Amino acid sequence: MESTKKVMLSGIQPSGELHVGNYLGPLRHWPTMIEEYDCYFFLADLHTITVRQEPAELRQRVYKLLANYIACGLDPEKCTLFIQSHVPAHSQLAWVLDCYTMFGELSRMTQFKDKSARNADNINAGLFTYPVLMAADILIYQPDFVPVGEDQRQHVEICRDIANRFNGVYGEVFKVPEPVIQKVGARIMSLSTPDKKMSKSQPEGCVFLMDKPEDIMRKFKRAITDSDTENCVRYAPEEKPGVANLMQIYASATGKSYGEIEKEFAGKGYGAFKPAVGEAVVEMLRPIQAETERLLKDKAYLESVYRAGAEKASYVANKTLRKVYKKVGFIQP
Ligand code: TYM
Repeated sequence: MESTKKVMLSGIQPSGELHVGNYLGPLRHWPTMIEEYDCYFFLADLHTITVRQEPAELRQRVYKLLANYIACGLDPEKCTLFIQSHVPAHSQLAWVLDCYTMFGELSRMTQFKDKSARNADNINAGLFTYPVLMAADILIYQPDFVPVGEDQRQHVEICRDIANRFNGVYGEVFKVPEPVIQKVGARIMSLSTPDKKMSKSQPEGCVFLMDKPEDIMRKFKRAITDSDTENCVRYAPEEKPGVANLMQIYASATGKSYGEIEKEFAGKGYGAFKPAVGEAVVEMLRPIQAETERLLKDKAYLESVYRAGAEKASYVANKTLRKVYKKVGFIQP
C-alpha cells in the first residue's frame, strides 16, 4: 500500500568530515521528522567529484557519514538511507532536466561563483550543472519538503523553477517542494571569521562532529568575539557577529532562548561564556561520537543499511523516471 504521509528528502556531501554547521543547521532536526513524514536521506557522493577527491578517502568518508547519520538518530528502520550513486535514476533524470535549465540561471548561482573562484584550475562542467543534479535528487522522490541550511536555499529555489518549467510543458509531473530552513542554526558561522559560514574549507574556525573534546574546547576558547570593550553577552548580530554566532550555537545545543542566555551570563563576560559553549557542544556530541565509533566497527551492518536503502529508493525513483521519459516522448524499453 502507498504511504499517505507527506514526503521529506535531504542529503549531505561526503566531501569532508561533518561539522557543527551541518549538524545544527539541518541534520539534528531530521530524526524528529521521521515519525511524521516518509523520509529519504542520502549521501550525495556524485556531487563530491565536482572537486577532486582521493578515492580511498572518499570511500572511508561515505561509511563515516552513514554511521554519523544513524548515530544522530536516523533509524534505518524508519526512514530510507542510501548512497546517491547507488540509484542511477538520479543521473538519468539530471540529464533530462539539464535540457530544461538555462545557462543564464546556472551562471547566477552564488555557490558556483564561490567554488569556481576557489578551484580556478578545475572549473568543470559538473560544478556548473551541479544544481540540476540536485534538482533531480529532489524531484525524483516527489517530496513536499526539503530541509536544508540557509546556503542551500538558492539551490532549492532553482529546483522549484525547473519543476515549474517542466510542469508548464507536460502537465503536473513533479510536485514542487518547499525548502524547510530552521530559524536558529540555519547559518552557523566560522569561529575564527564570523562573517563567513562555518565550512570544512576553513578548518580552524570549524568544529567537526568527531573532533576530540580538547580540540573542541580549544576552538571555542579561541573563538573570535568582538573588538568592543563591552565584554557583555548580548544578542546583537550586526554589532557583535562573533558573540551572536556563539549564542546561536549555545541556544541550539541547549534549547535556551537568547534572553535566557543573556541572563545566565550577565556580568560574567566572554571568558566564562566561550568555554561554556564549548562544554555544551562537547556534551551534545559525546553520544554521537561514541555511537559512530561503534557503528564503524560493524561494516556488514552499514552495508546492509545502504543496500536496503538503495532498493527502496530505486523503486520510487524509477517510477518517476519512467513517467518523465514517457512525457518527453522516449519509447518504453
Ligand atoms: P552540504 O553537504 O554542503 O551541506 C549539508 C547540509 O548542511 C547545511 N550547512 C549548514 N547549515 C548551517 N550552517 C552552516 N555553516 C552550514 N554549512 C552547511 C547545508 O545547507 C546542507 O543542508 N548540495 C547539498 C547536498 C545535496 C542536497 C541534495 C541537499 C545534494 N542534493 C538534495 C538537499 C536535497 C550540499 O552540498 O550540502
